[in-house]
Amino acid sequence: MSALAPILPVSPESLAQAAALLRSDKVCAFPTETVYGLGANAHSEQAVLRIYELKGRPRHNPLIVHVADLAQAQRVTTGWSQLADRLALRFWPGPLSLVLPRGPLIPALVSAGRETVAVRVPAHPVALALLRAVDLPLAAPSANKSESVSPTTAQHVQRSLPQVPLILDGGPCRLGIESTVVDLTASPPRLLRPGALPLRLLLEEIPDLQLPSFQKETPAGPLPSPGLLSRHYAPSVPLYLIHDDNAQTVAQLPSPRGLLTHQSLAAVAAICQDIELLPPSPDAYAADLYSALHRLDDKKVRCIVVLRPREDNDWRAVIDRLDRAAVS
Ligand code: TXA
Ligand code: MG
Repeated sequence: MSALAPILPVSPESLAQAAALLRSDKVCAFPTETVYGLGANAHSEQAVLRIYELKGRPRHNPLIVHVADLAQAQRVTTGWSQLADRLALRFWPGPLSLVLPRGPLIPALVSAGRETVAVRVPAHPVALALLRAVDLPLAAPSANKSESVSPTTAQHVQRSLPQVPLILDGGPCRLGIESTVVDLTASPPRLLRPGALPLRLLLEEIPDLQLPSFQKETPAGPLPSPGLLSRHYAPSVPLYLIHDDNAQTVAQLPSPRGLLTHQSLAAVAAICQDIELLPPSPDAYAADLYSALHRLDDKKVRCIVVLRPREDNDWRAVIDRLDRAAVS
């Protein structure tokens, strides 16, 4: 058996070690305020290729480039706009990824061949310290096997990707769900992925933002963002969404069953063996969602039943992840 990826506490030495790996075209996992990222030098095709290989990520799914500040964001993009400036000034460092025309320093592989690139300044002190130490933009998807639940602790990364050369441990991620992705090359701008930045704040800056419908869509033709593909963020056992406390359909599902809910459900809870009660507010729910799915996965339940929250803009990011994790 090969050795597990080393998890190192953050120190000047471990940061220097991580920066040295990244400068020699190796990958390294690091914490962000959303989820853990698997970073590689965004200027190096060879380094970025390693991300796709390790994750088993399809080559048509582009990566987000992480930068230390606004000036570095401008160097990896072209056509920086006034709106980009306003969003960056208000929300960076933070969980907002902006899609802009890709600059010549960024190889096409980072963007899976697209002419655009997604960029963000993360708000985690360790991510920022690493970006400054390495002095390069870092392409970084979530540090998990493609299609599985994103990691919110260093241990989650280690379990999903044991071959990573180094994992910097920054403790559990504060926001627990991925960044919001907005396409600024569309007119009006378009929400590609609801995420940790509350939509109501984004709408204050972009009132005409195009929003996808709540319905699960399988559009014909090329997808606007491959992150919109269904069956993503999924635990290892089937996940079923329910809308109320009706135990009849749940009783047909394989047992033992896990239940994840933010409201009390007497009838369904009575026929589930492991219950994860999450907070009733969307931000607090999102912060613990992936951890709760990892915990249920560990309990060896044979299916996970989840109460789908009501359709409301504040719940969009959570509903999006649940719909993608669910068996349809
Ligand atoms: O919070 C986050 O965004 C985390 C942390 C590590 O920063 N990263 C993350 O990366 O979630 P990943 O690779 O798991 O998701 C990237 C998302 C995907 O939905 C992808 O399709 C979209 O961003 N994306 C990236 N570049 C794009 C582009 N040029 N055009 C459209 N969508 C893009
Ligand atoms: Mg991901």
